[in-house]
Amino acid sequence: MELERHVLKALPTQRKDQKIVTNTYHPLEEIEAYLQELAASVSWVSVESIGKTFEGRDMWVATLAAPGGTSPKPSVWIDCGIHAREWITPATCVYGLDLLTENYGTDPDVTAFLDKYNVYVLPVHNPDGYYYTWSDDRLWRKNRMQHPGDTCHGVDLNRNFDDGHWGGAGTSDNSCGGTYCGPTGFSELETQAVRDYTNQLYSNNNLTAYFTIHSYGQMWMYAYGWGAEDTPHEQELFRVSETGVTALRSVHDTVYTYGSIYETIYPASGTSIDWSYSRGVVHTYTLELRDEGQNGFLLPADQIIATAEETWTGLIAAIMDI
Ligand code: ARG
Ligand code: ZN
Repeated sequence: MELERHVLKALPTQRKDQKIVTNTYHPLEEIEAYLQELAASVSWVSVESIGKTFEGRDMWVATLAAPGGTSPKPSVWIDCGIHAREWITPATCVYGLDLLTENYGTDPDVTAFLDKYNVYVLPVHNPDGYYYTWSDDRLWRKNRMQHPGDTCHGVDLNRNFDDGHWGGAGTSDNSCGGTYCGPTGFSELETQAVRDYTNQLYSNNNLTAYFTIHSYGQMWMYAYGWGAEDTPHEQELFRVSETGVTALRSVHDTVYTYGSIYETIYPASGTSIDWSYSRGVVHTYTLELRDEGQNGFLLPADQIIATAEETWTGLIAAIMDI
């Protein structure tokens, strides 16, 4: 019964003023158009490009700075789509923007959340890769960079962050590999942009939480990915993860496992999680959304709304429990 409070209302699938339909997947141009329209129609939402990709695309971040609460507010960062083929994640970020802006002022959980935090959402961390999954290869994972001397295109952006363990366990130094970590740490424009922008949030007014959203596997994870040892904050990270997965499960009974990346999914060095944690944001998490592998990256569009509802319920509950 107590959990009922955390169940966010489903939204109409189409808003009058914005041309986004939440139960279908959208190509990059439609996501970009939606973000511009959102910024134009909600006074406390702004959209800015935090950098350009290898192919010259913008990396659009939506900032939600709701009028209530006491400013300056601390920040929360949420990115989606670092891996190109994980289509449910940009869809979930976009749905979240719709849900937060639509329910602010009426839903008590959304209102308390946005009164406490400024929320920064990057729906497509890897626009070149996402574009390529629509044009050429639905299962492409990496960005589209080709470095001099490399045979293949594409660096795995989630192996390119440098926390001191770049190039370690769970990475490839072969440009044709799926987990190619790049020629150096932070060699990629997309990881540089997120590093620099979130560092600015961190030093300006505190970055309370950093989330990066993947699919699939139904997992809620935290540092470390590079090795089996626990962080000094293991108990606290476990506690907040438990809050998140419990609230998430209350919506559609979707069950998540949780723990460190290394223990829960597999060894992975150079992830944004390990880097963000090491830079000082203790509450840094990565989620693997639906499903458990039945459809994998090809999650049917009729699960978008339910996935987004439960994910945002979990995110808000966890962040409010920090
Ligand atoms: N998103 C995952 C990654 O970053 C891959 C998901 C595949 N899921 C799994 N349980 N293996 O590598
Ligand atoms: Zn991924």
